[in-house]
Amino acid sequence: MAREVRHAATGPLKIDEDDFDDEKGNVALCLCGLSDDYPFCDGTHRATRDEKEGVVYRYKDGERRVVEEIRYADE
Ligand code: FES
Repeated sequence: MAREVRHAATGPLKIDEDDFDDEKGNVALCLCGLSDDYPFCDGTHRATRDEKEGVVYRYKDGERRVVEEIRYADE
């Protein structure tokens, strides 16, 4: 089973000091979906910095590819 999930965010959600984790310290929550330490941001979102508006990307195994067309099974 696999699932494609779209994320438009290109950075983390920073939380305030009341939400600090005793082990991790100052943490931010991943909104880009690429973190290997999800739900925490690990900085992987930097790969999204040069994404273009209106372009769909697929990230897998550290590689980014442009999705040219999405075709659904019921179309
Ligand atoms: S927001 Fe996803 S890795 Fe930082």
